[in-house]
Amino acid sequence: MKTQVAIIGAGPSGLLLGQLLQRAGIDNVILERRSGEYVLSRIRAGVLEQGMVDLLREAGVDRRMDKEGLPHDGVELAFDNRRVRVDLAAHTGGKQVMVYGQTEVTRDLMEAREAEGGQTLYEVDNVQPHDLDSDAPYVTFEQSGETRRLDCDYIAGCDGFHGVSRQSIPAERLKTFERVYPFGWLGLLSDTPPVSDELIYARHERGFALCSMRSQTRSRYYVQVPLEEKVEDWSDERFWDELRRRLPEDVAANLVTGPSLEKSIAPLRSFVVEPMQYGRLFLVGDAAHIVPPTGAKGLNLAASDVNTLYRLMLKVYREGRTDLVPRYSQTCLKRVWKAERFSWWMTSILHKFSEEEDFGARMQQAELDYVTGSEAGLTTIAENYVGLPYEPLED
Ligand code: APR
Ligand code: PHB
Repeated sequence: MKTQVAIIGAGPSGLLLGQLLQRAGIDNVILERRSGEYVLSRIRAGVLEQGMVDLLREAGVDRRMDKEGLPHDGVELAFDNRRVRVDLAAHTGGKQVMVYGQTEVTRDLMEAREAEGGQTLYEVDNVQPHDLDSDAPYVTFEQSGETRRLDCDYIAGCDGFHGVSRQSIPAERLKTFERVYPFGWLGLLSDTPPVSDELIYARHERGFALCSMRSQTRSRYYVQVPLEEKVEDWSDERFWDELRRRLPEDVAANLVTGPSLEKSIAPLRSFVVEPMQYGRLFLVGDAAHIVPPTGAKGLNLAASDVNTLYRLMLKVYREGRTDLVPRYSQTCLKRVWKAERFSWWMTSILHKFSEEEDFGARMQQAELDYVTGSEAGLTTIAENYVGLPYEPLED
């Protein structure tokens, strides 16, 4: 087989890149280890920045998002039993975010790809990129027990944190930056109306809590838990009780509870690899970086990498600008590090870090009190939350 861009991984990064390239007439094939149903069964984030919404429009997948997505122009921070609204629109010249689940984005992209006749090979094993530093890279994989080869011009490594792409770069060419947090998030999805119209990020002495949603009738809640915690030890009742205790009283009083549709624990991590490219392989999304979920940046950062690689491929195939290829990593990393900073900061001020450390807790309170009481502070939160501008390949 032969294509122009071989894409490894059919998560949101691979599917969005594939769809944009397809519409631009750049041939591509996606190779995915799992089945389509498995990919769709993963419950992930749900807040889209304006930039990602615009990119999805450009990819032609806006119909259902516009119908079912919920535009939000504010978000709340709760602490000391009070709530402060961050008016996103007022502090960013009218920008908003869109609440629309990653699962739905993925489903829309899969349908669009099928309609465009794009090729995705699901349930392929042992995917291996080869000859990355040559002019003729290729990918081998196994399908139904047979070994196959996909020749290509470029490879997009969209295969997430545990994928093969990053691992196929010689270790001495990469530098990794990492911080692991001593807690996780226990998430619960339920068919109950959201407790509030907007998201609430809550700091509490028992630990962080987040009230989010997927629609007017489906809620997503999280509570910070120790890393050793087991999801089996958390009955729905225990979860609801703990959540209620961490919310301001007026919010807790409005909480509608119900049976969980899904419950899981996710660890929190900050991770970046530099550079995000090697020869003709580009790392995209979770393959290159992870952010803790406080700030809702993971999916959006994947979209901004896709934007950069897509614009680069347009320049290469339409204008012959192969001189721009080495700029991919530096262009992405500028924005990646800013989103890493915001996610780390949101995590730092809202979570409980230790039982003993009173000084740290007071610093968090003072910082929250300060930023939410200052126009400059509110603007900083708002412009990061709605998403910083996409970086251009050329100045
Ligand atoms: N071969 C083929 N496919 C692979 C391989 C492999 N060796 N390893 C992983 N994959 C597939 C996974 O099965 C998955 O479908 O690559 C896909 C990677 O998808 P994600 O992990 O969702 O990563 P990405 O597409 O970059 O999505 C952005 O940001 O913070 C997050 O929640 C957010 O998952 C979202 C991510
Ligand atoms: C979610 O709805 O799953 C969600 C929302 C905001 C976050 C993280 C997760 O910061």
